[in-house]
Amino acid sequence: MDTIIKKITNSPEDKEVYQQAAQIIHNGGLVAFPTETVYGLGADGMNKAAAAQIYQAKGRPSDNPLIIHIAEVEELGRVSEEVNEKAKKLMKEFWPGPLTLIFRKKEEVPFETTGGLDTVAVRMPSHPVAQKLIKESRTVIAAPSANTSGKPSPTQASHVKEDLYGKIDMLIDGGNVGIGIESTIMDMTVEPPMLLRPGYITMPMLEQAIGKIQVDPFLAGDMKEPVKPKAPGMKYRHYAPKAELFIVEGELSQVVAEINYLAEEKRKQGYKTGIIATEETKGFYCGDSVRVIGTRKDEASIAKHLFSVLREFDKMGTEYIFSEAFSEENLGQAIMNRLIKAAGHQIIRL
Ligand code: TXA
Ligand code: MG
Repeated sequence: MDTIIKKITNSPEDKEVYQQAAQIIHNGGLVAFPTETVYGLGADGMNKAAAAQIYQAKGRPSDNPLIIHIAEVEELGRVSEEVNEKAKKLMKEFWPGPLTLIFRKKEEVPFETTGGLDTVAVRMPSHPVAQKLIKESRTVIAAPSANTSGKPSPTQASHVKEDLYGKIDMLIDGGNVGIGIESTIMDMTVEPPMLLRPGYITMPMLEQAIGKIQVDPFLAGDMKEPVKPKAPGMKYRHYAPKAELFIVEGELSQVVAEINYLAEEKRKQGYKTGIIATEETKGFYCGDSVRVIGTRKDEASIAKHLFSVLREFDKMGTEYIFSEAFSEENLGQAIMNRLIKAAGHQIIRL
C-alpha cells in the first residue's frame, strides 16, 4: 500500500487533510498523527477489525492494549461509565494533556482495543492536530505510539515514515512533538489510584491534585525481579536502539571519565561508539559521536530529545552507546524509566 503523507500548513487547505483522514478512520483504516507526547497510530477505537490492523502494522503483541483518544470529556461516556471523583479531579487539572486514565470499560468497547482486558485506557490529547482529527472522525480513536513495536517512540513524522511507510494508509505530518515521551498512565480502578507509567505529569503533580497515590511495584523495583507490570506494554523490551546501550551512574566528573574510558576501549576494538552527553558535559568527551540530549537545567529538554537521539545513533550504525544517568526526581522518573528500558537494564554504578 502507498502511504499518503500530508503536511499541516495551518492554512485553509488543512481542512481537506482532516476530512481525508477522517474518511480513512471511518473506513477502518490507519492514520498516524502527532500528539503533544509522541506520534500516534490511530484507528476507530470501536471497530474490532481496525484495532486488529494496528497490531499488525506495528508488529505488536495482541495482549498489549491500546489507548483511546477523545477530544471532549463527554466522549468518555462512550467507553466507560465508572468515573470516580479523583478521576474527575485529574481530568479537570490535566486534560487535555499528557495523562492517560484507566477505567472499567463499557461492553461496547471491543476486546481487540483493550487487549482482552475489561478496563480501558483513555486520554484527551491537547495537540491541535490530534484534537481536530478526533473531532472530524466523529468517533474515539485508538492509538498506540506510531513506531514498530520495540523501537523508540516517534517524535517527528520522519520517524513514523521510517517504521511504517507502506503499512499504514496515511501520515499527518504536524512537525516535531513538544514533550517527546509518552503520557503518564494512572489506574483509577484501584484505591489509592496507581501510577503504571511515569510521564510528563509527575508524581508530585498527581499527589498535589488527589493526595496519596501508589506506584506499580514493577516500576518501584529495579525491574529485574519477576514482578508483572499492570500495564501489559511495560513488560516488553522497549525503546531499544540497535546498539547496546549502557548507562553510567555516579558523581558527574567520574561518570564522564568512565564513559570516555569505556568508549575508547570499544573504539580500540574497532566498534562504532556513541555518547549521550548534556550541554554541561559535552566539552569533556573525546571521540567522534557525542550527542547532546539536552541541558541538566531543564529536564524537559532531555525528555524531548531522548528518542530522536537513540534513532540518530541507529542511523549512524552505532554499536555501543554510553549515556550519563539522570536524577529520578520529577520528570526524571519518566526519563530514567525510558532510558533504563532502552538499555535493557545495563547500568554501571560507580
Ligand atoms: O502518549 C501516549 O500515551 C501515546 C500517544 C500516541 O497518545 N500513546 C502510547 O501508546 O504511548 P502505547 O500503546 O505505546 O502505550 C500504551 C500503554 C501500554 O504500556 C499499555 O500496556 C498500557 O498503555 N495500557 C493500555 N490500556 C491499558 C489498560 N486497560 N490497563 C493497563 N494498561 C493499559
Ligand atoms: Mg508505545
